[in-house]
Amino acid sequence: MRFTIPQGSQYHSPGTVHVEADASSASYFIALGAIAATEAPVRIEGVGLDSIQGDIRFVDAAQAMGASVSGGPGWLEVRRGAWPLKAVTLDANHIPDAAMTLAVMALYATGTTRIGNIASWRVKETDRIAAMSAELRKLGAAVTEGADFIEVSAPHAWRAASIRTYDDHRIAMCLSLAAFNPLAPNGPPNGVPIRILDPQCVAKTFPDYFEALFSVVQPAADAVPVITIDGPTASGKGTLASTVAARLGWHQLDSGLLYRATALAARRLGVADTDEPGLAALAATLDLRFDGEQVWLGGMDVASELRLEQVGAMASRISALPTVREALNALQLSFRRLPGLVADGRDMGTVIFPRAALKVFLTASPAMRAERRHKQLISKGIPANIADLRADLEARDERDRNRLVAPLKPAQDAQLLDNSGLSIDESVAQVLDWWAERGPFRST
Ligand code: DC
Repeated sequence: MRFTIPQGSQYHSPGTVHVEADASSASYFIALGAIAATEAPVRIEGVGLDSIQGDIRFVDAAQAMGASVSGGPGWLEVRRGAWPLKAVTLDANHIPDAAMTLAVMALYATGTTRIGNIASWRVKETDRIAAMSAELRKLGAAVTEGADFIEVSAPHAWRAASIRTYDDHRIAMCLSLAAFNPLAPNGPPNGVPIRILDPQCVAKTFPDYFEALFSVVQPAADAVPVITIDGPTASGKGTLASTVAARLGWHQLDSGLLYRATALAARRLGVADTDEPGLAALAATLDLRFDGEQVWLGGMDVASELRLEQVGAMASRISALPTVREALNALQLSFRRLPGLVADGRDMGTVIFPRAALKVFLTASPAMRAERRHKQLISKGIPANIADLRADLEARDERDRNRLVAPLKPAQDAQLLDNSGLSIDESVAQVLDWWAERGPFRST
C-alpha cells in the first residue's frame, strides 16, 4: 500500500533503463503479419523474443496457427506462414488478454479454434466471452461459448458489421483485424466493411492504435470515403467541413487554401498573376504543411496572411488558369487518407473527387454571406464595410461561376443545402444525416 523513501536518500542515475513495449499491444500486429499476403514482414520494434512479459507467449500460439515469426532482443518480424491459418485448441490461461486476438485469427483459419481456461474473460473490462461471441457472430462466424471457453469457426458468408466495443480497448483492437476479410478462405472478394463503434476506447492502452494500423495498410484507391462540400465564398463551407471532419474523426482539405497559398507565394516572389507557366510551376512545388490551425509555407506560419482579402482575390483570379488547377491536382488527391476526408472548395465534387460518396453544395444569400464575412473580419480587428464586401463576393462568385475550367456549380448528384437560416449545428447535423443514409451501415 505504500513506499517509504528514507530521509536523506539521494538520486543515483541507473544509467540506461530499457522499458519494453507492450507485448499484448504487439499481438494485433503479430496477427496482422500472419494474415497479410505480403513479401515483406510486419516488423515490430520495442518488444522481442527475449521479453519477460507473459503475453509474449502469444507468439507461440500465433506460430501454432501458422504465423512465421523471427525475432531477437527488442524486435519481431512476422510473415504469413501456413495459409489459411490452422485452427488450434489451446489452454490460454497464461495469455488471457492476447488470446482475444487468437479468436479473431480464427476467422482466417480452417476448422474450429477452441480457446479454453479463460474464465477471467468474464470479469475483465466487460464480459469478454459474451462480448466476443456476440460480435464475432455478427460477422457470420459460428461461435460456441461456455463458462470458461470460446470456440470460433470462420464465417461461410461474411457480413458487414458494426462492432460494439463495450468500452473495452481490446475488443476494438482485435476485431479491427476482421477488416481484412477479403483475404479469408471464404472471404468476400470485394470485402465487407467493418465499423468499430466508439473507437476512442483504445485510449486505455494504445491511444494511436488506429493511426498505427492505418500506417501499415494500403487501402484500395477508391475505398477511403470522401465527403465534398462545395459552394461560393463565405458560404460557411470551411466551418461546416472542419466540424463534420472533427465529428467523424476524418482529415480535412480546405482546397481554397491551396489556391491562396499559390497566390501568396506568387506575391512574395513577384510572379505576376498573368504569368501562367510561372504560377503553375509554383503551384506544383508548393512547400506547404498543415499542422492544426497553422499553415506552413516555406518555413513560415502563414495561416492569417492566407485569409487576407487581397490574397483571396488573387487566388480567385489565378484559379481560372487551367494549368494552375492541374498543378494542384496531385496535392489535393493526396489528402485522401484513412479513415476519410472532408474536402471543401469549388470543384471537389465535380472534378477532384467525382465519385465521392456524399456531395454537398452549400449556399447562402449574398446578404447573409456579406454579413458573416463582415463579422469575421471585425472580430479579427480588420476594418470592413458590408456593402463593399457584398459587391466583392458577388464579383468573385461571378468569376468563379463563369470561368471555363472547373466553374463553380453543383455536381449533378449533389445535395443542395441553403444555410441562410440554419445554425452551424443544424447544418452539421444535416450533413451527418445524409452521410448516415449513404454509408454502408444504414440500418446498424
Ligand atoms: O474558398 P476560398 O475563398 O478560400 O477560395 C479562394 C479562391 O480559390 C476562390 O475564389 C476560388 C478558388 N478556388 C477554386 O477555384 N477551387 C477550389 N476548389 C477552391 C478555391
